[in-house]
Amino acid sequence: MKAWELGPQGSVDSLRLVERPEPEPAAGEALVRLRASALNYRDHMILNLIDSAPKSEDRIPLSDGAGEVVAVGPGVTAVEPGDRVMVSLFTGWFDGPLLPAHFGTDLGGGCDGTLAELATFPASSLVCIPDALSDEEAACLPCAALTAWVSLVEFGQMKAGDTVLLLGTGGVSIFGLQIARMMGADAVITSSSDEKLARAGALGAVHGVNYVRDPAWGRTVAALTGGADLVIETGGAATLPQSIEAAAFNARIALIGMLGGVGIESDPLALIWKHIHLKGVLVGSRRSLEEMTKAIARNGLKPVIDRRFSFAEAPAAYRYLASGAHFGKIVIRHDEIPG
Ligand SMILES: NC(=O)c1ccc[n+]([C@@H]2O[C@H](COP(=O)([O-])OP(=O)(O)OC[C@H]3O[C@@H](n4cnc5c(N)ncnc54)[C@H](OP(=O)(O)O)[C@@H]3O)[C@@H](O)[C@H]2O)c1
Repeated sequence: MKAWELGPQGSVDSLRLVERPEPEPAAGEALVRLRASALNYRDHMILNLIDSAPKSEDRIPLSDGAGEVVAVGPGVTAVEPGDRVMVSLFTGWFDGPLLPAHFGTDLGGGCDGTLAELATFPASSLVCIPDALSDEEAACLPCAALTAWVSLVEFGQMKAGDTVLLLGTGGVSIFGLQIARMMGADAVITSSSDEKLARAGALGAVHGVNYVRDPAWGRTVAALTGGADLVIETGGAATLPQSIEAAAFNARIALIGMLGGVGIESDPLALIWKHIHLKGVLVGSRRSLEEMTKAIARNGLKPVIDRRFSFAEAPAAYRYLASGAHFGKIVIRHDEIPG
């Protein structure tokens, strides 16, 4: 079978396409023929060694994937051949809080990921794909959508009528916008591009602010909305002070990303004064993925896929993510495997 490996890392050129023996499912595992995978900023960080320790050169990248079960190992009853499934990013995190023991089970980082024709996963890490979602759409959910869901619904306790602030128009933020709309909350979004803000408006964002033209966008958001009740903080050092400025009293800020760097300088007094609840969020468990998927399917939420690449074009997909030109998700289709 064909698979991509990270190679020595440091640039996209390090990716290498290899031939490997077909894996066989051990006890408790399922063998999955992957039909689609999706990229996240995390994959760009791992490959380019951005705030990421080098991984084994033969590590198969990417955390997000969906496909069909083709065989199961001894003792597996939860899934059977023919089932369409997606896989949890932390294959060892079934339920409950995140624990140190879950590290090392993160696909495409601590263990082999989804950029392969076939892969074995613990059957307990698989979630069945509802008919309402295609394989490509399901492949977008395990990292970006789940992080937005956990930030807004589990940590954020979002309710109808709340105002949600999303930063930029990447995968997590667009899912945040869609989940907020799905649950009756108002979504406000920032972008470096007026054209992307217009697209976010078409998806239901009530306000869009260009963060390049308006560096004091936090004050603008507060003035437009009376303060955001929830923020998905994807920018880190570049954005947290403005997010705090944008936040309402008693707001919840889920600190999930570092698009603008990690060395955060922020005034803790502003957090205290406004009674803001700031919490780190790292994706979610398989149970959360299952609950979110049910909600998404029942409500007809369709992941926004900006562009699809073939399996052989994986390096081009990485380059496209790095360019920041995308709006929503980037998918790799596994149906044109080079011979
Ligand atoms: N903690 C977790 O579990 C978790 C899970 C998923 C992602 N993350 C993190 O969340 C962040 C976003 O991930 P993603 O996969 O959604 O990324 P992505 O799809 O690559 O999104 C990139 C977009 O973010 C926007 N952006 C870049 N720099 C920005 C800045 N300084 N301020 C505001 N927006 C900025 C840009 O949007 P415009 O072009 O519209 O300006 C850019 O196109 C990353 O840091 C990632 O590591 C964390």
